[in-house]
Amino acid sequence: MCGIVGYLGAGNAVPVLINGLKRLEYRGYDSAGLALVTGEALQVTKNKGKVADLEAMLPPGLSASTGIAHTRWATHGEPNTVNAHPHLSPSGRLAIVHNGIIENYNVLKEYLLQKGHVFRSETDTEVLIHFIEDIYRSSASSLPEAVQMALRRVVGAYAIAVISADEPGTMVVARKGSPLVIGVAANGDFIVGSDAAPLVEYTKTVYYMDENEIAYLQRGKPMEVRTLDDRPVSPKLTELDLSIEALEKEGYPHFMLKEIYEQPRSVHDSMRGRLLPGKGMVKLGGIQAYENHLLESRRIIMVGCGTSWHAGLVGEYLFEELARIPVEVEYGSEFRYRNPIIGPGDVVIGISQSGETADTLAGLRLAKEKGALLLGICNVVGSSIARETHAGIYTHAGPEIGVASTKAFTAQVTVLTLMALRLGMLKGTVSEQRARALMRELDQVPELIEKVLQSDLLIQQIARQYQQAKNFLYLGRGINFPVALEGALKLKEISYIHAEGYPAAEMKHGPIALIDENMPVVVIATRKGNYDKIVSNIMEIKARNGKIISIVSEGDTQVKALSDHTIEIPQTDEMLTPLLATVPLQLLAYHIAVGLGRDVDKPRNLAKSVTVE
Ligand code: G6P
Repeated sequence: MCGIVGYLGAGNAVPVLINGLKRLEYRGYDSAGLALVTGEALQVTKNKGKVADLEAMLPPGLSASTGIAHTRWATHGEPNTVNAHPHLSPSGRLAIVHNGIIENYNVLKEYLLQKGHVFRSETDTEVLIHFIEDIYRSSASSLPEAVQMALRRVVGAYAIAVISADEPGTMVVARKGSPLVIGVAANGDFIVGSDAAPLVEYTKTVYYMDENEIAYLQRGKPMEVRTLDDRPVSPKLTELDLSIEALEKEGYPHFMLKEIYEQPRSVHDSMRGRLLPGKGMVKLGGIQAYENHLLESRRIIMVGCGTSWHAGLVGEYLFEELARIPVEVEYGSEFRYRNPIIGPGDVVIGISQSGETADTLAGLRLAKEKGALLLGICNVVGSSIARETHAGIYTHAGPEIGVASTKAFTAQVTVLTLMALRLGMLKGTVSEQRARALMRELDQVPELIEKVLQSDLLIQQIARQYQQAKNFLYLGRGINFPVALEGALKLKEISYIHAEGYPAAEMKHGPIALIDENMPVVVIATRKGNYDKIVSNIMEIKARNGKIISIVSEGDTQVKALSDHTIEIPQTDEMLTPLLATVPLQLLAYHIAVGLGRDVDKPRNLAKSVTVE
């Protein structure tokens, strides 16, 4: 949550910072601001609202060669202009942007209040910059030393960038718990970002900062990196594998729609080089060295949040069906605080698009302490979860910018399918014949998703009819129960319509009381998934005048006859249906949200990357 950008170089910081903020807006959009070193002073502009509002406030021709900027997802203090970043030190000579939470800010604030400090905002960040200046002024230390000394006293998570009016050609950045990347352009310019997106237009040479590191950037000099406990680090620069096109909408009205439409390619990319149906093989290089460990494990625990947790639930069905390994799926936030029973015989798989979700990361760290093997399924290369796990598999879905996750989910499910299949083949729990059939069908999935996308117009029409509904129910059974959860989450997130996902048979234990002629019920009723039982569930809904929108296998007649609307998906192995059934649910949520005039890519109160607990 919160995105930070910094620029220090020979050109103008303003467009770099504004473009950078736009690329990071998925991380939060409650307020935005920037601070520039202009002449002998710091100039701060900030505002409640989105980056475009901030941009509109800037005077034409504004220019500076050093600056920092921020887009906020509020944690401490309401999202107003005063609480917006950057925050200034008491003298107004230092400015900071911060992503994360300073947990002991109350203690520090108390100390500073006793020294006569006056705070303008309610934020933890303002406390931190006051604290840094307090050290800077009292101990005759340099700016990087003062930041380092302050951070040693800080409990919490942060990525920060600090600039000073007294040292215009410098910037100090540090990270602990929140990501930070430093780009180095060919001409020596530095561009700093919460992820690589703000950098990609200017350079592909980057340094992904490690935990507990602080970097001192000076114009015209190489960066100096140290650990918080003052050990020098020689920064290992890497080449970015990210294109600008991947960060643009490319003609689509929203990133979410672009990302839904990218799924044939993203699913294909997550299987590339891994699914080899011609050779009758699945190859997962990233975890090859740990396959025996996985086969001998007494159970697998999947940890994730939001959509990634739903992918874990699909994974549970896949692993238990194909590899016969017991699986538990946990929310990161619950797992970490539950004193879970974990030991060396367990494998914990962290599933995360961003690779930065604080609760998932904390759950994994806990499991590591207790001796479990950690594997990661992440989309963002070089992210914290990818780095802190023993091994893992990248999903290769490409950058996902829409806040509501779409292609990242199907890529996660694809990777989990490959893993389950690989383990099942090694263990002999899936017959060679079935394995070969599954491999052939999985190979077809990108094409089948392409076919599902052809229902877009039909889905748009259905959306129009139901966009005024106050509630939606989503039902599925077996492996498509998590898909029902995911469909409901998508609708909630972007349309603000209340929606619940339920196992279809559980409906009679409560939700059935809600059903009347105003309740649309989306039912995933694929041919092989307990079909007869689902037909009975649909009858129960019809008997109470509910409206049925069904997702059925191509050629279905029975459910179709009972439904008010039907969306067909191609026939495939039941274990692969989540990859198809998810897509119409994404489109349904998208069109309803667009019909209601919602900000689809930046739904209210949400952020894409949740780096706070
Ligand atoms: C946020 C996002 C969700 C996402 C969840 C987990 O809540 O809005 O779309 O599913 O975080 O994120 P992760 O990056 O760990 O998959």
